[in-house]
Amino acid sequence: MNILISKENGVLTITFNRPDKKNAITAAMYQTIADALKDAENDAEVRVILFTGKPEIFTAGNDIDDFLKNPPKSTKSPAYQFIQNLSHATKPLVAAVSGPAVGIGTTLLLHCDFVYAADNARFSLPFAKLGLCPEFASSLLLPQIAGYQRAAEKLMLGEAFSAQEACAMGFVNKVLPPAEVLAFAQAQAAKLVALPASSLWATKRLMKGKQIAAVEAKIKEESVHFSEMLVSKEAKEAFTAFFEKRKPDFTKFKS
Ligand code: COA
Repeated sequence: MNILISKENGVLTITFNRPDKKNAITAAMYQTIADALKDAENDAEVRVILFTGKPEIFTAGNDIDDFLKNPPKSTKSPAYQFIQNLSHATKPLVAAVSGPAVGIGTTLLLHCDFVYAADNARFSLPFAKLGLCPEFASSLLLPQIAGYQRAAEKLMLGEAFSAQEACAMGFVNKVLPPAEVLAFAQAQAAKLVALPASSLWATKRLMKGKQIAAVEAKIKEESVHFSEMLVSKEAKEAFTAFFEKRKPDFTKFKS
């Protein structure tokens, strides 16, 4: 199973579990998580949702082979459903991140309520490096959280950055030793489980407020550009270069 889902003591834990491909997320994996998030909304036993990966990798982001073979084209795609359900989740979302969190691996954290990172976590939003553009409201949320210039640097250069930097930017709550991060996130989740669900629902709703509609509108705007760019020559060059284990050459393309 590439995605593990378990429910215990009020916490639904969703674990990326495809270590041979660095937990790269396929359409089938997005669908599994999207369905789990939808079911969780209507399941009174679920009071908190926790995302995690492997100690050495959170996720390498979207499966690049999938991007080449089945580029998501519509708002009905599993990836879109996943982020839709994530951004509309009314229950608290907690994440425990170790190792690289690439692309959607970082983007999804911008939609979470609490993010705990191991000091080996590395975040990156390599959309421009892949001939793409930001997705799933990262172009709205990252500037809001981190400020325009810090967001621009991360979204334009796409270079990986540390857990400490992510914490300073404001989307990681706390940096912990790798051996402690999951247990800490679970303990925080347990605290949430013990609180009145109605108070947490109202608190989250009040904080997110009109932002939910703004996020939805930005996701739609980004996805128009993203789907065009996904089938561009630049993206094809970037994806092919990744599998050929070489640097992409974008100089042959005109601006
Ligand atoms: N899609 C498909 N396969 C992927 C993948 C992805 N996003 N990321 C890694 N893999 C595969 C590799 O092709 C390799 O497969 P192989 O063993 O059959 O050759 C395997 O996972 C191991 O990856 P590798 O790159 O050798 O691991 P690493 O430890 O050196 O580096 C990462 C880990 C995450 C830094 C690196 O794999 C990476 O940058 N991945 C691509 C991230 C990306 O651009 N994602 C898209 C975001 S929109």
